[in-house]
Amino acid sequence: MIKKIPSASLRLGMFVDHIDREWLKNPFLKKQFKLVSDNQLKKFFDYQIEEVYIDTAKGLDVIQPVSPSEEKATAASIPREEKAGIEADPPAENLGRSKKVEKLYKNSYQATHRLMNDVRLGKLVDAKEVSRTVENLVEQIFDDQEALVGLSKLQDYDDYTYTHSLNVCIFCLAIGKALGYSKERLAVLGEGALIHDFGKMLVPLEVLNKPGKLTDSEFKIMKEHVIRGVAYIKEIPGISPDAIQVAKEHHERFSGKGYPLGLKENSISEFGRIAAVVDVYDAITSDRVYHRGMIPTRALQKIYEWRYHDFDPVLVEMFIKIVGIYPLGSLVMLSDGCVGMVVEGNIHNSLRPRILLLFDKGGDPLAEPEILNLAQNSSLKILHNVEPETLELDLKKTWNKYL
Ligand SMILES: [Fe+2]
Repeated sequence: MIKKIPSASLRLGMFVDHIDREWLKNPFLKKQFKLVSDNQLKKFFDYQIEEVYIDTAKGLDVIQPVSPSEEKATAASIPREEKAGIEADPPAENLGRSKKVEKLYKNSYQATHRLMNDVRLGKLVDAKEVSRTVENLVEQIFDDQEALVGLSKLQDYDDYTYTHSLNVCIFCLAIGKALGYSKERLAVLGEGALIHDFGKMLVPLEVLNKPGKLTDSEFKIMKEHVIRGVAYIKEIPGISPDAIQVAKEHHERFSGKGYPLGLKENSISEFGRIAAVVDVYDAITSDRVYHRGMIPTRALQKIYEWRYHDFDPVLVEMFIKIVGIYPLGSLVMLSDGCVGMVVEGNIHNSLRPRILLLFDKGGDPLAEPEILNLAQNSSLKILHNVEPETLELDLKKTWNKYL
């Protein structure tokens, strides 16, 4: 089937049928070809080709919005070996790990709160408190990354200003670890991430907390948080210049359309490029006064679409693998019609996590929710994500009640 799609939705494995553009302005020699390299994808962006026709009979189809075909759609980001086989049952005691992570998250949240309040009050923060907080998170990332990354979005703290800084720090650490950073390098990245939005504390509260869309002049004031934050951070003794890069560049965009400097591609530091991806992911998945956050799968699809234009594509792919296809707390429908919450991932096969069954086939809540290990049940599979609102379910409360 021939489909016209936005170039932003292209991915490797698709078959390009044709591009509506005269051949002189077309960077490709062949009219029809399969997408096999990032370089080819990049050309669509470089030559500002906005739409393209693909043939889904000869190559992959577009990633669909959350739907029964989601499993297939997200397959591009699943390592091939994960698709095969049923793996061994992870130990049940792992479920108890959430308590340890909850405590760490709470302590880190309180530290972030204290630090950011000091900024608001015009005090100079103590760099040692920043490094102590990050040190504990670095240890946890090496000890049990999945719990920290997964549970960071399930904690019941509703002050976005502080949770955002902490979540950005946690996600940055996970990417840094995947890039093979040493603990020392990770600590620098994490410190930069934790303080990246200090400048927001210098923005008037009526602008910072305004429910709804900002006016042009308010948005201009909001954007100043980068420059004001960097000026503040530079005054803190003991903060490394590399950490300052995170604050300085987290709103730069791969295409050069970000702010404040409009830096492009690799002229943005690796720290800045990492922070840009996770800053947006956390923002669009967070509940705010005026809107509900996207479910993780949909947010990852958006981030994937925005790669090249907004984000470094290599870091985007890495981040999708880290967060996983079905992150902890995701609500999913199974092939038998039951609905449950993902409570533990499966490093061998991310399509077969452990699930807390909450609703039966008829959609009625189970009196006693039970754990189902998909790794041990080959007759069932996940069909698709379910929006929590459709079942009037509060994921954070459900998590805290049963786990
Ligand atoms: Fe920011």
